[in-house]
Amino acid sequence: MMDLFRGVLLLSVVAASQVYGANLTSLVDLFIGTSTAANGGSGGNAFPGSAVPHAMAKVGIDVSTTPRQAGYIADNSSITGISLMHDEGTGGNTAGGYGIFPLFPLTNCSFSECPVRIGARAALRTAGADAASPGYFTTKFVNEIQLETTSTRRAGLIRFTYPEGNSVNHVVVDLTNDLQRSFEGGGLSIADGRVTLHGTFLQSYGTDNYTAYACYDFSSYNPNNIVITPNSSTVSFAFKSSVYPNQAGALLSFGSSTVTARFGISMISTDQACANAEEEVPTWNWDAAQAASVSKWEDVLSRVQVDTDVEDPTVVELLYSSLYRAFLIPANLTDENPYWDSPYPFYDALFCSWDTFRTAHPLHSIINPRTWADIVSAYVDGWRNTGYIPECRANTKAGYVQGGSDGMPILGDFAVKYGSRAAELGVVADDLYQALVDTAENTPSDWYRVGRQNTAWKQFGYIPTDWTDPSGSTGLPTREASRALEYALGDFAVRQAGLALGKSSDDIATYANRSMNFVNMWDANLTHDGFTGFAQRRYPNGTFAFSPPDACSPVDPVPHSCARGTDNNVGFYESSSWEYSFFAPHSVATLVELMGGNDTFVDRVNHYFSARYFLAGNEPSFAMPWIYHYAGRPDLSVLRVRQVVYENFNTKISGIPGNDDSGAMAALLVFHILGLYPVLSSTQMLIGSPLLSSFVLSNDAFGTSTKFVVNNFDSASLSAAPPDGSRLYVKSVTINGEQSSSVCVIDWHDVVGGGEIILEVDSDADAARERGCGEAGLPDSLETGGFS
Ligand SMILES: *[C@@H]1O[C@H](CO)[C@@H](O)[C@H](O)[C@H]1NC(C)=O
Ligand SMILES: *[C@@H]1O[C@H](CO)[C@@H](O)[C@H](O)[C@H]1NC(C)=O
Ligand SMILES: *[C@@H]1O[C@H](CO)[C@@H](O)[C@H](O)[C@H]1NC(C)=O
Ligand SMILES: *[C@@H]1O[C@H](CO)[C@@H](O)[C@H](O)[C@H]1NC(C)=O
Ligand SMILES: *[C@@H]1O[C@H](CO)[C@@H](O)[C@H](O)[C@H]1NC(C)=O
Ligand SMILES: *[C@@H]1O[C@H](CO)[C@@H](O)[C@H](O)[C@H]1NC(C)=O
Ligand SMILES: *[C@@H]1O[C@H](CO)[C@@H](O)[C@H](O)[C@H]1NC(C)=O
Ligand SMILES: *[C@@H]1O[C@H](CO)[C@@H](O)[C@H](O)[C@H]1NC(C)=O
Ligand SMILES: *[C@@H]1O[C@H](CO)[C@@H](O)[C@H](O)[C@H]1NC(C)=O
Ligand SMILES: *[C@@H]1O[C@H](CO)[C@@H](O)[C@H](O)[C@H]1NC(C)=O
Repeated sequence: MMDLFRGVLLLSVVAASQVYGANLTSLVDLFIGTSTAANGGSGGNAFPGSAVPHAMAKVGIDVSTTPRQAGYIADNSSITGISLMHDEGTGGNTAGGYGIFPLFPLTNCSFSECPVRIGARAALRTAGADAASPGYFTTKFVNEIQLETTSTRRAGLIRFTYPEGNSVNHVVVDLTNDLQRSFEGGGLSIADGRVTLHGTFLQSYGTDNYTAYACYDFSSYNPNNIVITPNSSTVSFAFKSSVYPNQAGALLSFGSSTVTARFGISMISTDQACANAEEEVPTWNWDAAQAASVSKWEDVLSRVQVDTDVEDPTVVELLYSSLYRAFLIPANLTDENPYWDSPYPFYDALFCSWDTFRTAHPLHSIINPRTWADIVSAYVDGWRNTGYIPECRANTKAGYVQGGSDGMPILGDFAVKYGSRAAELGVVADDLYQALVDTAENTPSDWYRVGRQNTAWKQFGYIPTDWTDPSGSTGLPTREASRALEYALGDFAVRQAGLALGKSSDDIATYANRSMNFVNMWDANLTHDGFTGFAQRRYPNGTFAFSPPDACSPVDPVPHSCARGTDNNVGFYESSSWEYSFFAPHSVATLVELMGGNDTFVDRVNHYFSARYFLAGNEPSFAMPWIYHYAGRPDLSVLRVRQVVYENFNTKISGIPGNDDSGAMAALLVFHILGLYPVLSSTQMLIGSPLLSSFVLSNDAFGTSTKFVVNNFDSASLSAAPPDGSRLYVKSVTINGEQSSSVCVIDWHDVVGGGEIILEVDSDADAARERGCGEAGLPDSLETGGFS
């Protein structure tokens, strides 16, 4: 028996590795979403340089034109250098985030006359020369100098290959020019071929500054040829709270046609930056560093395996390119925390939780649990040391709060999924719970940086407009309606964590109750486009303050301030009342009821799409294609998901419909492709019709592989408007041989539980409408007794 069993197991392992081959990195296109937002382009702001998963070092070239949030833009702009850290996909400051301590290669100039300043040195690339793969980036300037880079977590190598024929080549080491040109002080020293730098710069999303450190060692293939001029020197600028107009750096000369720089970065000290370089790239072995990066990427990409010979090549490219970007963020800055000593991991680029809580974290919960536990632990450690769950930590400092404190649903999600294994995964469950409670109860003096306006939320059960907070706490007193809706979800997260972690029934009842306060924003008398009942702002006396429900929608007929400006007077952040009125992911049944029942709800969602209130590139729109599930119409969700995918995503540089937002959009596309959608802070997932005929999900905490098979899969359904008769309606879901009573939901434990899940699809639209969600009924909602 034992031998036979082992034999079968071996066979199946061999079969799996034949079908699901390696080299998944070759399926990643790093340039998707790199077209400029200028002139109406996509503005995906994707980062295409070199990085390992969750890297601190994100090495890439920087363009001279804005917008350039990630430094890079896929156009013919001139290049000002190759720098060591970048953001991925974020909006915010159009000049970009980081871009610190760039290098720039020069040739054919005499030392004292080389064009070292940023404007003078900027140069064009050869058309089509940019190329990248996970762990590697290269390009060539029009003067034929080639640039390449590969990297580790906090270090890496940059190589310049100069055209033959010049006896002396140069490299500029730029101290002062980050992407924002925001240098406030720092210095550079050269000794024995080593250049160390430190500088204080402005963060890209927030009002603070940060200090970073770097260490460069230079080598040529013939070390005897290396000449560094000046031989030894130091330049230093005292900190001041305004930006220096000076440009400063070093110019190094080399007698060889290839120059390799090894760098290390740190947020602690130049010594630590040098130690990071020595530890992570000890022998300067390029191939070893690149191979190690590729192997890390193969590991994380293989958490979703598909048969590339069988599946649609575009879907495969979208899947792996999106997975790649979802794993770039957040950044592992463990041992690089300048603010407190702690045995816990430190993660940065939580930029912002408002963007990433919806899809990026739930994706990590499925296929990246060990690292996700470290990330969650870093959120908890933020509370441990500041009193609040961090919201938008960027450049190591708090940024701006956009809505609720959206680290809350992330921690709630961890509690319901891994609460019983928290200790084993390094998360202190009681601390996680206390972080949630403190963030739900206390009000920071400035809730524009972190936390919530709980004074108002607790006193009124909504966020009043035009109210002076007697506690003296301040923040940005706008976005009242959307903040309240997100606070409600945050309270649901506490309720869920309380339940999962065995906290008191009083707590559970309190937070369940508060999580239903989203209904207090509901103005039942407001009619727009023939639909009645919309979320609106309210005055302290309870009267609703009217704003047109289409204000701040993509088709707003009147320009409004819809972002963080103090002049935002519509009550919603980056979204409209039309859209946010659908936001109560923990009790959508309540919304269906408020909107007038299933049929009106479906009409209203259809109208939302046809009136173009939907904006594919913006987070509040993410869940909308799936919301028909809550009216018992999963057949409409599967059609809408395909429409959204094929009308908005593609494999070109314009392939992301808006900012990738630290991988949020990437994770969204992965969910659409897999036919799964997370219900926040819960183990429920909506299930739909995958764009793949089969796939395997691996979970490294449970050691499981779960295979999804779509019986009757129909590639004709892979379009924005699948032709009549294409097979895409989910008829049944069978989990390890047992038919599920729902075709709308699947428990997360089954998704990561190992074994085989078979979805049967067919083309019978009438039967699908009739079937609805199946015997088990609608997905859970708190008001109708769900999530028990
Ligand atoms: C992976 O695929 C790429 C592109 O097809 C190829 O250049 C590379 O050699 C492959 N690597 C391995 C390890 O097979
Ligand atoms: C860069 O591209 C733009 C738009 O395609 C074009 O108008 C411009 O002439 C190009 N500039 C250079 C220097 O090639
Ligand atoms: C170097 O400069 C000379 C004179 O300006 C020019 O003719 C030559 O093409 C340049 N070579 C390179 C490689 O840029
Ligand atoms: C910037 O950095 C300096 C020195 O590191 C510090 O004193 C100052 O408070 C920081 N913040 C701002 C906003 O300048
Ligand atoms: C650099 O300068 C030091 C003293 O300033 C001198 O001892 C050393 O020989 C010089 N090295 C080179 C390579 O010129
Ligand atoms: C993060 O850094 C720590 C400290 O070096 C390391 O133990 C951990 O494996 C890293 N995790 C990732 C995902 O990089
Ligand atoms: C929440 O508690 C308040 C006060 O006890 C009560 O009036 C209200 O009905 C409760 N709300 C829900 C949704 O249970
Ligand atoms: C608002 O609607 C409620 C119930 O739908 C109704 O009782 C009330 O009179 C309305 N108020 C106004 C001001 O129209
Ligand atoms: C409530 O306050 C608003 C704003 O001050 C005011 O316009 C409205 O008339 C008040 N409503 C009642 C019922 O007093
Ligand atoms: C909405 O549809 C679901 C599923 O088809 C059904 O269970 C529920 O009763 C319907 N609700 C109403 C108010 O008709």
